[in-house]
Amino acid sequence: MRYVVTHPRRVRGEPVHQTSREKKLLESKENEDVEVRVRTREKARDPEALRKEIEEAYLMPEVEHFVETPEVKEIETRMELWLEAGYPVHLIGPTGCGKTSLAIHVARQFGRPVVWINGDESITTADLIGGYAQIENESVRDKYIHNVFKSKDVIKVEWVDNPLTLACKYGYTLIYNEFSRTKPAANNVFLSVFEEGVLELPTKFGEDRYIRVHPDFRAILTSNSIEYAGIHRPQDALLDRMVGIYTDYYGYETEVKIVVEHTGLPQGMARKVVEIVRYLRERLPEAQKPGTRACIMIGKGLMLLNGKQGIGLDQICIDVIASKTSSRKEMEEKRELVYEAISAVQGVSGG
Ligand SMILES: Nc1ncnc2c1ncn2[C@@H]1O[C@H](COP(=O)(O)OP(=O)(O)O)[C@@H](O)[C@H]1O
Ligand SMILES: [Mg+2]
Repeated sequence: MRYVVTHPRRVRGEPVHQTSREKKLLESKENEDVEVRVRTREKARDPEALRKEIEEAYLMPEVEHFVETPEVKEIETRMELWLEAGYPVHLIGPTGCGKTSLAIHVARQFGRPVVWINGDESITTADLIGGYAQIENESVRDKYIHNVFKSKDVIKVEWVDNPLTLACKYGYTLIYNEFSRTKPAANNVFLSVFEEGVLELPTKFGEDRYIRVHPDFRAILTSNSIEYAGIHRPQDALLDRMVGIYTDYYGYETEVKIVVEHTGLPQGMARKVVEIVRYLRERLPEAQKPGTRACIMIGKGLMLLNGKQGIGLDQICIDVIASKTSSRKEMEEKRELVYEAISAVQGVSGG
């Protein structure tokens, strides 16, 4: 800026008087030059691009080494049937029996993006549906008035969709894993979704408050049959609105296939591992029963054992089932049980 005519007064090196022409020019450029904007995030982009971005961010991982035996296929078919009929499917079963794997596998069959919620104690309705988030923090400073330094912070908030809203709006498949771990009140929002096909966003007003559920929306929920009997029994009204499929541990042949597939263990050895785990499962109390995951862990341990000194099948099994042990006495009992299982299995398969 140039100003030298009659009032060459400067404050901190800046000319402080302006001609009317300069003033006009400044005013017209106000939004470009005069304000200094500090952006913390970009301005909202094209909604379609934004949606693609969200879909990619929520892309489901592949289900690795998924095994489909007739018994797995049968549950899959039932799940697909009910989902196609428009009902949410609730998989109930003990820990490690294959609920989550099944949910992901079936969800992928529908070919729609899959969104995911993991239930827990601290989940609120806002975690499910979304809320207002600060997206832009703008500091505006007017530096052209010599003796006044004007500064203001403008915080812009924008609604951000969480998984349930995304799934209802765009027709995604929702997996709500261990949903019964969430406090029942937070899950109330599902009632109208399942019953009337309407999602209500309680913190919004006017028309924006209601979202009509997309016809492609599907929901698969899982819960643990042991916890299920415990503190957070989901409200009956919610359970009434879904189909329940009880999934127990898979049969022997399916478990052997899963172990072979996941670990590369030779058939004979995989059979032995599954037999040991099933022997332990029959004898340990409900909350400590080893699932299919334990079979896989033992298998992986054995694959890497490769003659490591002083470690045998017994120790590998003990380490895997010891994770839920709370005392030395309990540990000793488990050790005995593992020895018993190994000799019983060797007795059956002839070593
Ligand atoms: N049909 C299957 N094919 C291959 N692996 C499976 C299958 N079902 C379960 N598994 C494996 O068994 C373990 C336990 O399954 P998971 O789905 O996590 O059980 P849950 O959710 O019931 O606790 C996982 O390591 C999983 O990869
Ligand atoms: Mg699970």
